[in-house]
Amino acid sequence: MQIQVFFLLFLLFTKTTSSQSTTNILPQGSSLSVEKSNNTLISSNGDFSAGFLPVGDNAFCFAVYFTKSKQPTIVWMANRDQPVNGKHSKLSLFKNGNLILTDADRKRTPIWSTSSFSPFPLQLKLQNNGNLVLSTTNGNISILWQSFDFPTDTLLPGQEINERATLVSSKSETNYSSGFYKFYFDNDNALRLLFKSPLLSSVYWPSPWVLPVDAGRSTYNVTKIALLDSFGHFMSSDAYQFVTIDYPKKLHRLLKMDHDGNPRVYSFNDKTKTWEVSWQAIAEPCEVHGICGENSMCSYDPVNGRTCYCLKGYKLKNRNDWTQGCEPEFKPADLSCDSARVEDFGFLHLQNMELYGYDLYVAKVTSLKQCQKLCLDLCEKCKAVQFKFNGVATYDCFPKTLLANGRDSHNIDGDIYLKLPKNTLLSSTIPFKHSPLNCSIALFQPLNRFYEKPSKNSILSFLTWLALGIGVFEFSIILFVWFFLFRTNKNHDDVDQVQRHLLSATGFQRFSYSELKTATRGFSKEIGRGGGGIVYKGTLDDDRVAAVKCLNEAHQGEAEFLAEISTIGMLNHMNLIDMWGYCVEGKHRLLVYEYIEHGSLAENLCSNSLDWNKRFNVAVGTAKGLAYLHEECLEWVLHCDVKPQNILLDTNFQPKVADFGLSKLLNRDERDSSAFSRIRGTRGYMAPEWVYNLRITSKVDVYSYGIVLLEMVSGKSPMEIHSVVDNSGGLEHHHRMVSWVMEKVKSAPTTMFWIEEIVDGNLEGKYDVNQVENLVKVALMCVKDDMNERPSMSQVVEMLLQSHEKRGTPR
Ligand SMILES: *[C@@H]1O[C@H](CO)[C@@H](O)[C@H](O)[C@H]1NC(C)=O
Ligand SMILES: *[C@@H]1O[C@H](CO)[C@@H](O)[C@H](O)[C@H]1NC(C)=O
Ligand SMILES: *[C@@H]1O[C@H](CO)[C@@H](O)[C@H](O)[C@H]1NC(C)=O
Ligand SMILES: *[C@@H]1O[C@H](CO)[C@@H](O)[C@H](O)[C@H]1NC(C)=O
Ligand SMILES: *[C@@H]1O[C@H](CO)[C@@H](O)[C@H](O)[C@H]1NC(C)=O
Repeated sequence: MQIQVFFLLFLLFTKTTSSQSTTNILPQGSSLSVEKSNNTLISSNGDFSAGFLPVGDNAFCFAVYFTKSKQPTIVWMANRDQPVNGKHSKLSLFKNGNLILTDADRKRTPIWSTSSFSPFPLQLKLQNNGNLVLSTTNGNISILWQSFDFPTDTLLPGQEINERATLVSSKSETNYSSGFYKFYFDNDNALRLLFKSPLLSSVYWPSPWVLPVDAGRSTYNVTKIALLDSFGHFMSSDAYQFVTIDYPKKLHRLLKMDHDGNPRVYSFNDKTKTWEVSWQAIAEPCEVHGICGENSMCSYDPVNGRTCYCLKGYKLKNRNDWTQGCEPEFKPADLSCDSARVEDFGFLHLQNMELYGYDLYVAKVTSLKQCQKLCLDLCEKCKAVQFKFNGVATYDCFPKTLLANGRDSHNIDGDIYLKLPKNTLLSSTIPFKHSPLNCSIALFQPLNRFYEKPSKNSILSFLTWLALGIGVFEFSIILFVWFFLFRTNKNHDDVDQVQRHLLSATGFQRFSYSELKTATRGFSKEIGRGGGGIVYKGTLDDDRVAAVKCLNEAHQGEAEFLAEISTIGMLNHMNLIDMWGYCVEGKHRLLVYEYIEHGSLAENLCSNSLDWNKRFNVAVGTAKGLAYLHEECLEWVLHCDVKPQNILLDTNFQPKVADFGLSKLLNRDERDSSAFSRIRGTRGYMAPEWVYNLRITSKVDVYSYGIVLLEMVSGKSPMEIHSVVDNSGGLEHHHRMVSWVMEKVKSAPTTMFWIEEIVDGNLEGKYDVNQVENLVKVALMCVKDDMNERPSMSQVVEMLLQSHEKRGTPR
């Protein structure tokens, strides 16, 4: 607990001490933030920078990059496989020596860390060679961690490939996450290239046909070190070496394991500010394994480059990703001997082609017939045979169980006979032909990041937060003053700023008005009407059923709208309604939410479809949702209109709090009543603060929630009580509701007695007495006139869950 409080404070503190730099050093106890685009380290020669780079929509990676090129050239990444959000993410150097990258959600474990520790003073420094080094700064300078020890796909001059450090290609030109190609030292001390996908794996360099010795490699030197110098000389401990075409010029160079499986050395051209290839490992691109996926062939010519095509009888799996290969058009069972006779099969002759690997065995045969018979006898296990004259008097026959690493080239001396069901072989009117497709189609898909939902086991975290909350409350007073005094240039209503903030903070979709018009069939099916506007049911392009809320134009300006969006977009909790997107076009302002099956709590109470268990779950879930709004989120949000109409129930009767239309983003430092000049909320549920013009805090939601609890227990709406008991107007409604319950509680001789009196008759006596008692007690605390006497929402959650634990058998 103590540690968490300190951690939180630390985060708050580093917010202001983060370095505003043109420096190459990050001092201890400070951090680099994703939000400040100039929050970077710059090496003293200006060649390299270290900072956050965007890698997708609201996705950032902490990277070291070369700055002299037209586009930044990424040479290292901390979190290539796990980008972070564009807001609140930061790289922090802790006093204890640990360098940690955290995402927006501070509770979760770090995205990445060096796991280093040192009692001595230290610093993070970006060196002139692009190495990011964490070292002590006292007399003994010792390196705790350096980026050169953990290469991603790029090797800089002076940086080693060794036993631990390997190069792994990125997924594609635009997707930096780990791909399938690896440049590494193998167990026999030889430097190799490996293709390793989840399904297939094979070494393709040096050529798998030759022994290491024949490829000029030594397998006896256990040093396992390879490096490139800036003159263009590469040297490896297995005796492999090369020089680049521009050797021995001293240039900026890098060796990159490219996403197409070919390692290349690039030299920097100072005039054009671009990188030029000065060496590559593989001259024939189709020799790279896995590039075209299964059941396909790779062919190359200098004009068109590399192309992939499916073998006859097979079709492409994914238009945009050749590496997924092709799948049979016939049923795989068609190759089985059970369902077909030998006469049902035929072989398609493919000249000058090879398939590498996945041979069932090698057989010496005297004729093609013999080879084909072997394949037929193997039934569905054999998909094709490779057939090759072996230079003596016989042929080599390789039955293939899997068709991978296919290559089509005139240089290949050997033929493939592809086994196919006869109808597939004959039926197709289109003769076998190349269908060239572009291998290099970008695999880029915009990253659609949402803030993760909290873990299911949230009870513990709520307890943690409750305790933490108390600690934070004490500090918050100090912090408010502090923020007030020191934060000066915050421009709250600047639309641009809101928009920028919005775009970086949220991952959801922007829809066009016509899209939503189509989705809702011209706004034909109305499902609700609230203060903010009318809600329609619709079906999106991807078949998701959505609730589309059209906001009243007059009601909301663009700034206000975007502010609301940015608030809602940040929120993600199982008890809050999910927002999928929005539309802002001319006068139109629309919000797109998930469609909730069972309607609102109000409707369900009305139709009497909720038994006690469901009501209790709704009470707890709603409290959790509100507690999250008040305390767990990145930004402090008040709902201000809690009522049964705004609590929706999903298929499992889990509550989802909806309609933050009236909520107002409240930063912790601006919690004064002036932001709430207008009265919000709904009569019957409004806290006294609204009427008496007192300071508006999260306790207004607690009050409304208390009324909702009373309503759920009694089955009577505050209005109903009013008509039964009193006719005075306005705010008095809920007072009556409260005093009605209080009277019953006080005047009853026993607990059972008042429970009987107030509990909804529709429950027909089926409820848990302890839970009802507890719920009413909590509700009465929530509706205290003095807001300071009301519990916080997280305390409410805890109190409700305690009663759940103690719960007896229902009577
Ligand atoms: C860095 O950003 C801050 C605002 O975040 C700005 O005030 C400052 O001028 C910027 N510095 C440079 C060198 O661009
Ligand atoms: C330097 O390192 C040595 C051995 O690790 C240690 O004994 C010594 O105290 C260190 N000196 C300083 C100034 O940290
Ligand atoms: C092993 O390789 C290293 C680095 O290339 C070299 O310095 C060393 O002499 C080699 N050892 C042997 C026994 O060849
Ligand atoms: C393949 O796609 C890339 C990127 O989309 C494009 O630059 C290239 O011209 C295409 N090649 C062919 C042969 O269509
Ligand atoms: C990159 O590829 C990985 C793995 O295929 C995928 O999960 C991720 O979403 C991709 N990222 C981007 C930015 O396209």
